[in-house]
Amino acid sequence: MEERKKKYIIANWKMNKNIYTGVNYILSFMLDYKEGNLESENEVIFAPSFTMLDAINSKIKGKKLKLAAQNMFFAKEGAFTGEISPTMLKDFNKLEYVILGHSERRDYFIESFELINKKVKAALKYGLKPIICVGETEEEKNAEVTHQILVRQLTEALEGVKITDLNKIIFAYEPIWAIGTGKTMTPKEANEIADFFDRFIGRLYETPLTVTTVYGGSVNAANSKELFSQPKLDGVLVGGASLDVKKFLKIVEDANE
Ligand code: PGA
Repeated sequence: MEERKKKYIIANWKMNKNIYTGVNYILSFMLDYKEGNLESENEVIFAPSFTMLDAINSKIKGKKLKLAAQNMFFAKEGAFTGEISPTMLKDFNKLEYVILGHSERRDYFIESFELINKKVKAALKYGLKPIICVGETEEEKNAEVTHQILVRQLTEALEGVKITDLNKIIFAYEPIWAIGTGKTMTPKEANEIADFFDRFIGRLYETPLTVTTVYGGSVNAANSKELFSQPKLDGVLVGGASLDVKKFLKIVEDANE
């Protein structure tokens, strides 16, 4: 029998909810979360805004659920008004992950892959696991340069990252044209990109290897099952559909089937 693969189901709430609605969501999620899910190897990771981390961290104490930050700065401390450091994130014992380089950060906040690379190295240095987002725009897809774009983004994001740290990284393939648009790539195509990540990163490190890759971009309860059945995909990063507790729970349950 084929061995079941551990899956990651990541809820990116973006700039939504507040402490009250965020905590209520989590309480309701935990209430409906079936026993079988608790035994599953899969990791369910919530990425709320910084302001909710403390409240949610204490609510999920002792549960299998985990937290991710949606961003961070690379310095440990100093005169960086408005920023959050990796060591500040270490205040929350359920927070293991940090999303880095989300396309909204690259687009609205002009984050470059040079900056993202500094954040990736800082996250690893301080014991956080980076969820690195990469993906092409619609124009790049139409110009058939997706692979070249991904090669450049991955190369820059991983500059100076040790091979022994690769197993701490989740690669999130998020085609920009599929984010929040309702347009999705076919699960098979997403699977091919995940396969390409293995091959390309293997080439970068001059050894065959397998990395952890999740797909993001209009994932919902109707398409998640097929995404989970793809051999090269290790899970999903869910934006819009993660805001509704019932929809997200359905996706989490699909991952356990
Ligand atoms: P979406 O967002 O599921 O709303 O498309 C995904 C993401 O941006 O991470």
